[in-house]
Formats: sequence, structure tokens, C-alpha cells
Amino acid sequence: MIQKAAELIRSAQNLTAFTGAGISVESGIPPFRGENGLWNRYDPQFLDIQYFQYHSGQSWPIIKEIFYDHFGDAHPNGAHEVLAAWEQSGLLKSIITQNIDNLHQRAGSKEVYEFHGNSRNLVCMECGKNFAVEEVSLEELPVQCTNCGGLVKPSFIFFGEGIPPLAYKQSVHALEQADVLLVIGTTGEVVPAGQLPYIAKEHGAAVIEINTEPSVFTKRITDVFLQGKASDVLRQLATELDKINTH
Ligand code: APR
Repeated sequence: MIQKAAELIRSAQNLTAFTGAGISVESGIPPFRGENGLWNRYDPQFLDIQYFQYHSGQSWPIIKEIFYDHFGDAHPNGAHEVLAAWEQSGLLKSIITQNIDNLHQRAGSKEVYEFHGNSRNLVCMECGKNFAVEEVSLEELPVQCTNCGGLVKPSFIFFGEGIPPLAYKQSVHALEQADVLLVIGTTGEVVPAGQLPYIAKEHGAAVIEINTEPSVFTKRITDVFLQGKASDVLRQLATELDKINTH
């Protein structure tokens, strides 16, 4: 299967990747679902936009603990690095990620569409002022706007919030062009993100899925399922590609 996937990747004109929390698990960031999933330990309600507006005193400490204390010291792993190298060599055109951990960019990837926003920035819900996370103190919670005193939230998308329009447009366009789509480390259970791989499939793309276990995509649209950890499988693919390219 690795060989079949490597052949597909080598012949791709518009290789695209769609990534989820699973690609960052080997960087020490827990997934949301499955064993060790964050939603087994925290009620996702704290990330519901309505709840946050009225109970930011309860939500903010959990947000800080999960997305700033933990994520802060995570580093890109081999999976992020292979994808960045494939973009560098012109093989991979873009990455659509559901992740907000910035690890693709820290691995060197440039064309990254953050479908759920990112945790690097925060925004005031009253006046819309943007803040870089370095600019605000997370010791005084909830975070208040220095401009108007309003409630400040991370720029990543909460449940009940819309997808950033630019990221949405860029993602759909990339998926309509894709001829090979890598689906890496995602259950596909959250919409509208989970609908994205179907766009590529409808436009004729071959789907290569990398996951430690099957997902909602596996039986429906996956052409090649490579079961395993993202960094192991991507390193194997990179090795296989080098072999093919040297022949
Ligand atoms: N390598 C590859 N895949 C892995 C690994 C690994 N080392 N470890 C776990 N996985 C897989 C799991 O099998 C699962 O399919 O990663 C997936 C993680 O699933 P989720 O935690 O549901 O993550 P994701 O699909 O990205 O969630 C989508 O849900 O809560 C929202 O906004 C949040 O972006 C997130 C969205």
C-alpha cells in the first residue's frame, strides 16, 4: 500500500493535505476524541461561543490550560516536517488544517489554510481589536480588551462560530483542484470541516488516508488507507518516493 500511495503522490499535479489533531499527537498535543481525548476530560461546552460569552470566567482558565499552557511547549514532529519538505520541493501545493497549534507553519509550511483559525491571535468581541498572544497577559482572566474593556477571545473558532471566510474560500478552491488528497489524523466527525474531503473526491481526487485507526472517511472515500502513526507513515512515504525518484 505504501508503494501504491507513493506512486499516486509522485504522479500528482496538485497534491493537497487535509490534517486534524492526529498529526500533532506525536508532538505531545492530545487529540479531542478517542483514548486520551480532551473531550473525555473536559466538557466541550466551555468552548461553545454562547457559553463563553456568559461564563468566560469559567471558560478562560480551561482555555489557558489546554491551548496555551500545554500547546505552548509542543514542537513540530516528523509528519509536519515531511509535509513542509514536500511543499519546499514543489510536490505539495497546500495544507488545509483543522488544527490551531501552528505546528505546520513552525515546521516551515507556507501555504496553510487554518480552517478553525489559530491560537496565536486573540480578538476583542466588542470592538474587534486584534492582539498577538504575546501582547496579552493570561494571568488576569478573563482577558479584557485594553482598548474598550470588552471580552477578548482566542481567534480560533468556538463551537457555534462561523468558519473564517478567507480560509473557507482558499480551502474549497484547493480541494477542487486537488488530484491527490492526503487525509491525515482526523475523525472527520466535525462539520463543516469533515465535509471538505468529499469536495476533492467529487472533483476526481484519489484519497490517501493516514490514521492510527479507521475514520468516517475510510469506508466511504478512502482509496488507500495507510494505518499507522502520521510521522512513521509519512517518513516511509518519503523514503519510498526517494527510491522511485532515484530510479
Ligand atoms: N497519527 C495519525 N493519526 C492519529 C494519531 C497519530 N499518531 N493519533 C491519533 N490519530 C487519529 C485518531 O485515530 C483520530 O482519527 O487522529 C484523529 C483525532 O481525531 P479528533 O481528536 O476528533 O481530531 P479532529 O478530527 O482534528 O477534530 C476535528 O473537532 O473539537 C473539534 O475543532 C476541533 O479541529 C477539531 C475538530
